Amino acid sequence: MTSVNHIQQRKSRHLDVCLDASASIESTDTWFQDIRLVHHPLPELDWAELDTSTDFLGHHLALPFFISCMTGGSEAGARVNRHLVQAAQQTGIPVGLGSMRVLLRHPDLFDQFHVKPLAPDVPVWANLSAAQLQHLATDDLIEWLKRLEVQALVLHCNVGQEQFQPHGDRCFAGMTHSIRQFCERSPIPVLVKETGFGLRAQDIQPLARAGVAAVDIAGAGGTNWILVESQCHDHPHPDAALDFSDWGNPTPIVLAAMDESDLPVLASGGVRNGVDIAKSLALGASLAGLALPFIRAEAQGGLDGVLEQIETLTLTLKTAMLLTGSRTVADLGTSGLILSESFVSQVHQHKQPQQWRTLVRSRP
Ligand SMILES: Cc1cc2nc3c(=O)[nH]c(=O)nc-3n(C[C@H](O)[C@H](O)[C@H](O)COP(=O)(O)O)c2cc1C
Repeated sequence: MTSVNHIQQRKSRHLDVCLDASASIESTDTWFQDIRLVHHPLPELDWAELDTSTDFLGHHLALPFFISCMTGGSEAGARVNRHLVQAAQQTGIPVGLGSMRVLLRHPDLFDQFHVKPLAPDVPVWANLSAAQLQHLATDDLIEWLKRLEVQALVLHCNVGQEQFQPHGDRCFAGMTHSIRQFCERSPIPVLVKETGFGLRAQDIQPLARAGVAAVDIAGAGGTNWILVESQCHDHPHPDAALDFSDWGNPTPIVLAAMDESDLPVLASGGVRNGVDIAKSLALGASLAGLALPFIRAEAQGGLDGVLEQIETLTLTLKTAMLLTGSRTVADLGTSGLILSESFVSQVHQHKQPQQWRTLVRSRP
C-alpha cells in the first residue's frame, strides 16, 4: 500500500523533473509539423471581429483551450494550482486539477484541492486514475466531488507510467466496467483522458456507450511519463525507459482517425503553441489542452507567467484564424488542411487496424 507521504513525495519529484529544462522528458515527434493550414492571402476579415469563444459541456468559454490536469497534494503543487486556477478565471478557460487520490486518503488536504472559489466563472475539473475507481466507494467519491464544487471529473489512464513506478498499479482489468458504473451514478460529467500516450480512435465509441461525456486524447508527442518516471528514482533498469521514447498514439493522428461522433473530443499531448491549437480545432477537436508549457510558465513567472503564456497562445491562435480566413473557431474546420503523405498513411492505419493484420503473414 502506498502511503500518503509517499504519494506527496512522488508528486513533488514529478514537478522537479518536469521543471528541469535539461531533463529529456518530451517525445521528439508531435506530428503537428505534418499538417499545414492553408494560407488565405485575402481573408476579408477584420482582426476585431475574430471570435475565439466556444461552448463546451454547457459552459461558454472565451478561448478554445484549457490547462490540463497536473498538480495537487503538496505545498508547491497547491501554490501552482492556485495560480493556474486564477489565470483560468481571468482568461475564461477551463482548468484541470491533479489527481485527487491523495485527498481521498488525507482529507485534511481539502483546502489544497478546493480552489473553485478562485474560479467561480470557469469549469474546474477534478482528476483521478480510472484504475482507482474499483478501490473506492462511489458514494464517498461523489461526496468529495460535491464538496470540491467541480464541474467535471476527469479519469486518467496511465498504464505506461505505472509500470515505471516502483509501487505502481499493475492490474488494469475491468476499467471500462468501473467507468460505466461510476458514470451511471455521477452527478457531474465524466471525461476520460490518457496522460501522454494517447487514446485510440476505436476507444471513443465504447467510452461513449459507458456514459462518458467527452474524451481527451492526451496523446504522444509531448510529455512522456515513462521518461519522467524513470528520472524520478533509481530504476533497476534505467535504460528500459528509453525504449519507450517515441511510444504512443500521436494526438493529431488519433484526432484525424476518429469517426464522426457526438462525443466532444479534446486534443492534448504535445500541443505547444497557438498554431498547434488551430490545427487541433481544424481537425475537429472541441478544445485543445496543454500541460508542461503551463507548469513551466508558472515556475518562471507565477500567475503573471501563466497569464503571459495564455496571451501568447491567444495571439498566435488569432493570427492563425485571420490567416486562414476563419472568423470563428468553427470556421477553422472548413479552412483547409494539407497533410503529409506519411500523416495520411498513419491516419489510415489508425482508422482501420484490421487492415494491417491482412498484410502480416499469420503464423502457421
Ligand atoms: C507536472 C505534471 C503533472 C501531471 N499530473 C497529472 C495528473 O495528476 N493527472 C493527469 O491526468 N495527468 C497529469 N499530467 C499529464 C497531463 O495532464 C498531460 O496529459 C500530459 O502531460 C501531456 O500533455 P503535455 O504534452 O502538454 O504535457 C501531468 C503533467 C505534468 C506536466
